[in-house]
Amino acid sequence: MSSNESAEARLYYPPEEFVRQATISGMDAYKSLCDEAQRDYEGYWARLAREHVVWHKPFTQVLDQGEAPFFKWFADGQLNVSYNCLDRNVQSGLGDKVAIIFEADNGRVTKVTYSELLAKVCQFSNALKSVGVGKGDRVVIYLPMSVEGIVAMQACARIGATHSVVFGGFSAQSLRDRINDAGAVLVITADEQCRGGKNIPLKPAVDEALSLGGCESIRNVVVYQRTGGACNMVAGRDLWWHDAVQGQGDACEPEWVEAEHPLFLLYTSGSTGKPKGVQHSTGGYLLQAVLTTKWTFDLKPVDVFWCTADIGWVTGHTYITYGPLACGGTEIVFEGVPSYPDAGRFWKMIQDHKVNIFYTAPTAIRSLIKAAETNPVVHPRNYDLGSLRLMGSVGEPINPAAWEWYHRNVGGGRCPIVDTFWQTETGGHMITPLPGATPLVPGSCTLPFPGIQASVVDETGAEVPWGQGGILVMKKPWPGMIRTIWGDPERFRKSYYPADFQGKYYLAGDGAIRDRNTGYFTITGRIDDVLNVSGHRMGTMEIESALVAHPLVAESAVVGRPDELTGEAIVAFVVLRRSRPTGEEAKKIVAELQAWVGKEIGPIAKPRDIRFGDNLPKTRSGKIMRRLLRAIAKGEDITQDVSTLENPAILDQLKHGAG
Ligand code: WT7
Repeated sequence: MSSNESAEARLYYPPEEFVRQATISGMDAYKSLCDEAQRDYEGYWARLAREHVVWHKPFTQVLDQGEAPFFKWFADGQLNVSYNCLDRNVQSGLGDKVAIIFEADNGRVTKVTYSELLAKVCQFSNALKSVGVGKGDRVVIYLPMSVEGIVAMQACARIGATHSVVFGGFSAQSLRDRINDAGAVLVITADEQCRGGKNIPLKPAVDEALSLGGCESIRNVVVYQRTGGACNMVAGRDLWWHDAVQGQGDACEPEWVEAEHPLFLLYTSGSTGKPKGVQHSTGGYLLQAVLTTKWTFDLKPVDVFWCTADIGWVTGHTYITYGPLACGGTEIVFEGVPSYPDAGRFWKMIQDHKVNIFYTAPTAIRSLIKAAETNPVVHPRNYDLGSLRLMGSVGEPINPAAWEWYHRNVGGGRCPIVDTFWQTETGGHMITPLPGATPLVPGSCTLPFPGIQASVVDETGAEVPWGQGGILVMKKPWPGMIRTIWGDPERFRKSYYPADFQGKYYLAGDGAIRDRNTGYFTITGRIDDVLNVSGHRMGTMEIESALVAHPLVAESAVVGRPDELTGEAIVAFVVLRRSRPTGEEAKKIVAELQAWVGKEIGPIAKPRDIRFGDNLPKTRSGKIMRRLLRAIAKGEDITQDVSTLENPAILDQLKHGAG
């Protein structure tokens, strides 16, 4: 068999039935869009921006590269994102259509129509205005998955305030850092959140964050009463959501903002320092959200769409709060977790709500495979999943075995899977199949979204031939891209437009390889010190800083180890300020440090494994040899040259975990 045939054998072609109804139908349609972008890059995006976004004031400029890499798109146009998501649909007759099907942790279902959602957003917009929040203010949202979470984000968009959602799993310290960096005037939170049958307090983290200092910009805290559990309210500062909206009118004129107005900040981990506030625009971002929802997810107003992400991550922003609503779809918002009351929850919800399009992360799929294998009752075959017509994957590479299982057992062999590669910084999908066009290969995110100029290059920026691994870059700016890092434009330039490529290319931070025959992209993982744990992005430096903030810790180095379930697992090598502990004592300190990191950053950052040494492996110039630590973490034999190592004896110590 020639290599061509073997590549061919692994292809999954889009089913006829899907192609017939698809918005982008067939490879020719895909190619003709790519060609259009090739011929006239700005003309292509301008056409789409006029067709898919409603402008209050039409734009005349398209791409402004004057202050590269601080690109501007559609800069003299004006619009409002909330208008595009809500008013537009109500005006076109979708007012009575269900926008959101909310399923609570305990299974209770609430439906909200487009008209109702618009009224809620307007009321809350008026409430925000009544406490003095307006255009350009930053608002931190620290809410569980809820209708209110979406209302809060949409209301900020409506009045021109810039939201910054902080995932409910982040600690008080992390919340404080984000409030401080954003200079936010208001926090929106809830008394408690309900997950996996438990009520978990949320408001105390806000109180603690605000007490830590550095949050003096905060004037008020709005608290959504989710459970009615005990909740401390600070007089003059805190107010209940239900009191704030009481008596507010259900109409609110949208604030028309310039296309470049910052719609949101979203903090994400980088390879150095504190998390960075990725700043997104209004016009370009909305275009990317709408187009990718229509083309990658083939979403039409008749569809029931379910993205299982949390609004605390970019996936929840683009594919819960904005994209599906701007397209007039019906979407599921789920409060709970995939394993409660049992690991059949996702399948039951797809069945109950007749979900057509389902979007989740490889980590979730892998854990549900494991659950189905140990407990046949929760196997997807026990549920009627016949409503599904398309499925997606996001957040990390999906291993072909998990892909095949998902395809066969969840999609019944008839649903295409879109493996969507993108990032917090990109705003929306960048490299992804279009389900009615692209033949699929398990484990590959296939080809760039039409118009996106992705490429694989070497360290000098020269393109590498197909079949050879390299660095993933974007050769041209695109509408939905990050505009800057909030408060740190230099960091933006250095991180994403490094001098190595003469500042010409956007550096994604991932490695990639293109198939020698098809040119399909496969992402090979981060090339910087960023880990991907269960689809959550964590900087190794961030975890190291948290560890050394503990009084016992002198030095630490954190690396990732491949993990079957979570993609990567966090392994920390630690030198204590005292002698190296062993046995029971080591176990005790491990538990203490894990809890410490959980409190400093959040439970998702807890190291799985902590190893103690008298020192860390360093070169004679004092550089920690992470390469070696990664090998040790994996349990590999050290075959590398350690002659440059100052203290080779240390390796033996670090090979062993505590206990
Ligand atoms: C990093 C971005 C995009 C929303 C969720 C994560 C990895 C993301 C894929 C994919 C392989 C992927 C990359 C990327 N990643 N999607 N389909 N295949 N890797 O957003 O937290 O900004 O993380 O996630 O490493 O750089 P994020």
